Amino acid sequence: MTLYGVGLGPGEADLVTVRGKRVLEHADVVYSPGRLSRSVALEHVDESKIGDLDFPMTKDEEKLRTAWKAAAAEVAPRAMEGDVAFVTLGDPNVYSTFGHLRRTLEAFHPDVDLEVVPGVSAMTAFATALGVEVEAGAGLSLREAADGASPTGPGRMILFKVTDIPATHEGLVEAGYDVTYGRRLFMEQGETAVTDDPSELEERDYYTLAYAEKADLVVESATAAFERDG
Ligand SMILES: C[S@@+](CC[C@H](N)C(=O)[O-])C[C@H]1O[C@@H](n2cnc3c(N)ncnc32)[C@H](O)[C@@H]1O
Repeated sequence: MTLYGVGLGPGEADLVTVRGKRVLEHADVVYSPGRLSRSVALEHVDESKIGDLDFPMTKDEEKLRTAWKAAAAEVAPRAMEGDVAFVTLGDPNVYSTFGHLRRTLEAFHPDVDLEVVPGVSAMTAFATALGVEVEAGAGLSLREAADGASPTGPGRMILFKVTDIPATHEGLVEAGYDVTYGRRLFMEQGETAVTDDPSELEERDYYTLAYAEKADLVVESATAAFERDG
């Protein structure tokens, strides 16, 4: 039998894929690493199917390894007997807790079959939410900007974990970027916001990303001329 890593998408229940929904409905147990992913999963499965696992909120690597070994030891026998799902927001292979579980299972329970159901990642959903087009020929880099970091370099970047907007904003503007922020995009839980004014988002919120584009970036696609010339 199988452990499925299921990507739930950004938060709205109807952005779960058809395949993800089918896997959730057929799974014997559904594990979720957080309150938000649990609330999305509950739109598709009964609460009685939700499994119990402890997930540590720590950066201590030894504690993390111990906790993931315990989580894998709980999940592995269930996944040998039946089908089990482990859900994550977005896609399971993009900056996700599923990676810890997958590596731990591969190391200590290699007989467990693993399958991943991709989900709509914030990495792509941001484009629609912010009205950004990543046109053919363009490059786009994904970076983290936790704790006020402001990575710079590429012409266009999407930044995850933008927890200290004023500090990140200052660094990006100094480096010549125009920046738009997106908070709780396509999420039912909490308020969605899209703005290029950092003062509107003073409160910290983990579910915040930024799209940064070099102010002097030139868009070369043929039809871009229509936007320039009308
Ligand atoms: C640990 S990463 C998880 C990414 C997720 N696996 C995915 O594929 O979207 C969490 C970061 O993704 C971004 N993020 C995820 N979902 C978001 C959403 N609905 N709206 C805005 N940002 C989101 C935020 O920057 C957040 O700090």
